[in-house]
Amino acid sequence: MSKYWSDVVHKLTPYVPGEQPKINSLVKLNTNENPYGPSPKVIEALKLEAAETLRLYPDPNSDGLKAAIAKVHHLDSSQVFVGNGSDEVLAHVFQALLKHAQPLLFPDITYSFYPVYCGLYGIDYETIPLAEDFSIRAEDYIKPNGGIIFPNPNAPTGMPLALEKIEWILQNNTESVVVIDEAYVDFGTESAVSLIDQYPNLLVTHTLSKARSLAGLRVGYALGSATLIEALIRVKDSFNSYPIDRFASAGAVAAMQDVDYFEETCQKVIATRDALVANMQELDFEVLPSGANFIFTKHKLRDGAELSAKLREHGIIVRHFKSPNRIAPYLRITIGTDEQSVLLLKALKAVLSE
Ligand SMILES: Cc1ncc(COP(=O)(O)O)c(C=O)c1O
Repeated sequence: MSKYWSDVVHKLTPYVPGEQPKINSLVKLNTNENPYGPSPKVIEALKLEAAETLRLYPDPNSDGLKAAIAKVHHLDSSQVFVGNGSDEVLAHVFQALLKHAQPLLFPDITYSFYPVYCGLYGIDYETIPLAEDFSIRAEDYIKPNGGIIFPNPNAPTGMPLALEKIEWILQNNTESVVVIDEAYVDFGTESAVSLIDQYPNLLVTHTLSKARSLAGLRVGYALGSATLIEALIRVKDSFNSYPIDRFASAGAVAAMQDVDYFEETCQKVIATRDALVANMQELDFEVLPSGANFIFTKHKLRDGAELSAKLREHGIIVRHFKSPNRIAPYLRITIGTDEQSVLLLKALKAVLSE
């Protein structure tokens, strides 16, 4: 605290990301990164970009990247907004589209950055409890609101919500923006992008950090009607005209273009996840249905915090959330390679036999 700080800074409770350990030997299953590297075409593109042109500013409109994204999603470039990671895109979304007189609605158990953005921008919000089985109940969102946001699949549960339920929310909520954060959608969840042309109040956000294995490059994007995108551009151009640097742009274009590599690695992650779930169930773990590159799981007898600490002693880091109480027994485990699953299962067996 300091007299030099503004009021808003005194009141902020910043987001705390998962640990990025300095020790390389750890099996890192705590921040939902992709275990496979990005497409080799991304590396080639980055090398080519390392040229004299770096002395020049990048394209402030990121037209090339927007065109590559629009092509993948069969949309027009005017329906695409890009930013420095989907966290930055989401920050602009909160400020540009979700700050209204009525409260913003999101689940009580969800991506913990949402309340942080509300604090930063002074947005009133109301959390909607997940159902007993941790699913999102579409009916609960039909009430006066200044916007609705949730991830699909939800985080940290990994549970997908059926596209019909999302469409039902859109049909019954036409006066405010509905944001579907699809950070993990490519691992087996149906995307809402197909609804964009029908619903002018739908905004879908994506990231290249997960399925395209580029968490280090920081690129994310939003898809929606040109009117919603214009609001985001207005905020961006009042904040930072060049959020996508030349490297990020070149790498992201190559990643979007290499559809075969993207599909192949997503399928590998899904296959590893399904095998891991079956093995965990044999060890008496309950696993929530996952449409993501992570699972949310609890042991029938053992405590989440204890398991997380013991796994670390075996060189494996997973994510444990102390609060709210309802999720304290759970572990969020990122899907790694098959080899990493073997190490995880071996460590779990050792811990459970102690
Ligand atoms: C639900 C959700 N949305 C958005 C993000 C942000 O991703 P990034 O800023 O890397 O694009 C994350 C990151 O873990 C996430 O879990």
